[in-house]
Amino acid sequence: MLFKQLICGLILGLCSGILVISALESDFTLRELAERNNLYVGAAVYTTHLDNETHAELLGREFNMLTPENEAKACELQAVQGEFNFTRFDRLMDYAEEHDMAVHGHTLVWHQCAPAWLEGDFTREEGIEILRDHIMTVVGHYKGRIPIWDVVNEGIRDNGSGLRESAWRTLVGDDYIALAFQFAHEADPDALLFYNDYGIEGMGAKSDGVYEMISELLEQGVPIHGIGLQAHITLDATAPGRQLSSESLAENMRRFGELGLQVQITEMDVRYNGNASQAILEHQAGDYRRMMEACLDSGYCTAFIVWGVSDNLSWLRYWNNETPTVEPLLFNEDYEPKLAYYALLDLLARRAGEEAILNDEELAKILGEIEVEIEIPEATKSDPAQLAPDSVDGLVYYAPFPVAITLDGNSEDWENVPRVTLDKGTTIPEGNDTFLTFAASADDTNLYLLAEVQDSTLIYGVYEAAAEWYLEDSPEFYLNATGDLEMTSYSDGVAQIAILAANIISPSEPIIGGFNSSTIPVDAIVLETDDGYIVEASVPLQTDVWTIEPGHESILGFNVHLNGASNLDGRDVKFIWSIVDTQDQSWTNPNMFARLVFWDVNEG
Ligand code: XIL
Repeated sequence: MLFKQLICGLILGLCSGILVISALESDFTLRELAERNNLYVGAAVYTTHLDNETHAELLGREFNMLTPENEAKACELQAVQGEFNFTRFDRLMDYAEEHDMAVHGHTLVWHQCAPAWLEGDFTREEGIEILRDHIMTVVGHYKGRIPIWDVVNEGIRDNGSGLRESAWRTLVGDDYIALAFQFAHEADPDALLFYNDYGIEGMGAKSDGVYEMISELLEQGVPIHGIGLQAHITLDATAPGRQLSSESLAENMRRFGELGLQVQITEMDVRYNGNASQAILEHQAGDYRRMMEACLDSGYCTAFIVWGVSDNLSWLRYWNNETPTVEPLLFNEDYEPKLAYYALLDLLARRAGEEAILNDEELAKILGEIEVEIEIPEATKSDPAQLAPDSVDGLVYYAPFPVAITLDGNSEDWENVPRVTLDKGTTIPEGNDTFLTFAASADDTNLYLLAEVQDSTLIYGVYEAAAEWYLEDSPEFYLNATGDLEMTSYSDGVAQIAILAANIISPSEPIIGGFNSSTIPVDAIVLETDDGYIVEASVPLQTDVWTIEPGHESILGFNVHLNGASNLDGRDVKFIWSIVDTQDQSWTNPNMFARLVFWDVNEG
């Protein structure tokens, strides 16, 4: 169901009405509703987490399955050859049994956390004996108590082409995977044996590679009973049209299911760039919800496991140290349930025939199904010399055509083209002295863009241009030339074009950042000025992904941002032109753009 919100272009009294999701609560726990849906709902836990009473209490109350986050890995259990230490794993096992939770054993054989001694000088026969001994001892120790084992974790290369390098593979040979499953089966014939991996949730080269490998192993009679889809995903990965669209998830789960395998979501978390905003947490809830929905709908999926309980203890905070404040899980650091938690609870409640927890409009918001419609007010021109009507603040920019521009860093040819200075955004520090004024025009081959940036502290070339350009000085232009101005996720024909201040060092190829920006050949010049820098860019009207034909009053989706850094610690200024984009979401949702209206200079 689609819900529409109307943004009216009356300069006084905008009628935007942004939906706020109120405080939520439920009479049920996640685990109760999961059980009603015949589903395990699990969480990874580390022994030390149990020292925190709140953590321990919540884990047993909300989840009916537990995955040892590290305790079952080989480097933890058998750090010294032949000396097994089950102390910590036993503690988790006891906790699980006290709380009537199933244990998802993770993991016997992995290229990481492989004890260093495995790299000793062993013959293949000795290697096989080491593999057998490890698996027989570990699986044997918990025989009858662990219903599911991840026997092999992450055995396939990221591009899907064959086996990844691993100490186990070197020790045993390419049949280490088949042997590992056989030994595990021998150790506990009742346990369900899983192959687990990341990046294989939807259709794609890597999941194809895993599918082929498992098909062959099954044909050889290797006892494999399940596939674990880790689901460490990035925000909006499950949005319609994206890599993990519901179609892609369904098709992938179906093909593994049809091999006779159970499917489980084994390590879900949802990361994102930047700081958690309300909008990010809503999109994150949407990702959790759609992943759970794919699981419930598939008919093969028996567990939904998240990689940790509370945001502050997520591995993403310490793993490679890049995102120390990320909030990727279902509970915040105060152990309060997040929107993502309620999004799951709501789905499970509805499926169990219980009362919904979110109303339909709140749900539509989480799923990105609320579309914003912009009404364009009548054009007025206050200055007769101006080549196009006045812009309507954050709603409409009138771009005159034909007005040809030369990319030379000189703004004289922009004379009488309307100029707009950004005056609002999501981060504007006190005493800010960074500002952006933009203009746009077209001739019959290009759309031209101008950004005059006032900025006393130019910061550029510090962050990696491909991934982290938005942390330093960079104006961004957003264009939607698809004709569908209400779409809520990116497709061909929509582009975020960031023209980095880093171009000041005049590269031969302009450095352009942004989603889909590589699909259009943008040309640009950026020069330092007395009080900042100037950007002139040309965007071709005819490309592989769009044909833009400026006609009088024809419309594009359009937005302008400015990222500014005043020191080396990253962005501290964010200006946003579109009044719809209150949460800095244009990079993921083109429905947050305002409008560019072409204006034929000969029409008056
Ligand atoms: C991670 C743990 O969360 C960290 O504590 C540890 O330092 C490294 O391993 N895929 C997997 C998990 O299969 O075992 C990993 O767990 C996360 C990625």
